[in-house]
Amino acid sequence: MTTTRREPYSPVLDRTLKVALEYLDGLPERPVGATATLAELRQRLDRPLPPEASDPAEVVEQLARDVAGGLTGSTGGRFFAWVIGGSVPAALAADWLTSAWDQNAGMYAVAPAAAVVEEVCGRWLLDLLGLPATASFALVTGCQMAHVTCLAAARNAVLSKAGWDVEERGLFGAPPIRVVSGDQRHGTIERALRLLGLGRASIVDIPVDEGGLARAKLEPVLAAAPGVPTIVLLQAGDLNTGAFDPFLEVIPAAHEHGAWVHVDGAFGLWAATSPAHRHLTAGVEQADSWATDGHKWLNVPYDCGYAIVADREAHRRSFSHRVAYLDHSDVARDQVDWNPEYSRRARGFATYAAIASLGREGIGRLVADCCRHASAIVEGAAALPGVQVLCRPRINQGLLRFLDPRAGATEADHDRRTEEVTARIVASGEALFACTTWRGVRSMRVSVSGWATTDEDVDRTVRAIDAALRPSAPGHA
Ligand SMILES: Cc1ncc(COP(=O)(O)O)c(C=O)c1O
Repeated sequence: MTTTRREPYSPVLDRTLKVALEYLDGLPERPVGATATLAELRQRLDRPLPPEASDPAEVVEQLARDVAGGLTGSTGGRFFAWVIGGSVPAALAADWLTSAWDQNAGMYAVAPAAAVVEEVCGRWLLDLLGLPATASFALVTGCQMAHVTCLAAARNAVLSKAGWDVEERGLFGAPPIRVVSGDQRHGTIERALRLLGLGRASIVDIPVDEGGLARAKLEPVLAAAPGVPTIVLLQAGDLNTGAFDPFLEVIPAAHEHGAWVHVDGAFGLWAATSPAHRHLTAGVEQADSWATDGHKWLNVPYDCGYAIVADREAHRRSFSHRVAYLDHSDVARDQVDWNPEYSRRARGFATYAAIASLGREGIGRLVADCCRHASAIVEGAAALPGVQVLCRPRINQGLLRFLDPRAGATEADHDRRTEEVTARIVASGEALFACTTWRGVRSMRVSVSGWATTDEDVDRTVRAIDAALRPSAPGHA
């Protein structure tokens, strides 16, 4: 007699499966960008607080109807705006089960299977990314929180070397920490530093070019303040260009000056999984901490990031915590010892399923395919009149600029044209791109992170770019 438990669940879950499949199956034909306006979405969704209960299946179906046109097709094959991955089927399914199982994955005692699955995910991730097998790790919400986690460990380590216990005494009166970074870092690092009480003023910026942070520029900065607790920030995969810092040169230099080296590898670290791209990450394993994402290139559903720290003790000191009402384990993994969150989603299940379903070879192929597709879009567009390539993809990121054909057109005209053509592509619904300002000029980013993109999607996208360059063509205003 299982009916009493099943009854409330099966009608809503059966219908939700149908809704989800309709959404996923319809992705190739639906516009990739959102089509509903803010006013429409508010008008549909902003109901008075329901005074009484409603049928769960109807609530879910109504929700799906109301958000229609307000979802972007990031899990489809022609989403090239920002670095956003889709969801491989096994990871999506495991993510559903994560909700069905509803484990509080803070501690082994509360959710044993979740703790063991995360243990295994950590081992697999270190192996896949070519990082030290002895490193500690945490599965967090994204690269932002991976930075917070890693930099908390960095703060602990550099201050404890200076004789200061930051977990006990906090930052008031602590020796100042200097953070040395290339000037093209991602904004989430600054947010992490702010959260950790380090503030923007602690950052020393070094201008970088496409070769990344040069040793010749880093060394004088480090030498100028010997003995100051220092964190050096490096990048595996610049968000605009996919550029990598020269790890083999700069990590040993930073270590010679006693600095902690943290790497933002939100997506770029995954280049290590593809034999054709692995050389870009050479030497990265010598760093002290690494932040990366599952919801980008591994194609795990949102949200999922990974913090990895070479100095396990510094990591553990930054988060470990004991309370009398919880049974801490001496032998199993208690995630609260490594994670900033306390109660938390068991996000290991989706990562586990993604890695298990793709395997080492499949992940490398996924990464290489995205790189190939990014190049094919850039080269396909480059063959069209009035398209300038600002950056050919090293990995999965490229930059295009659309030139104003009028004689005497200025940079501002090219900026405007770039935005107009991008907007026309988006309005066609065929593909989603976004603009950025790179080296002072507007350009359209070509960013490919989804497992679902096919060669046909690439051809269709190049045709959409071609059509957008000719606004008089049918279908364009
Ligand atoms: C290089 C880089 N670092 C960090 C982040 C932040 O990642 P998340 O949004 O997962 O926190 C991103 C996101 O695009 C990124 O591209």
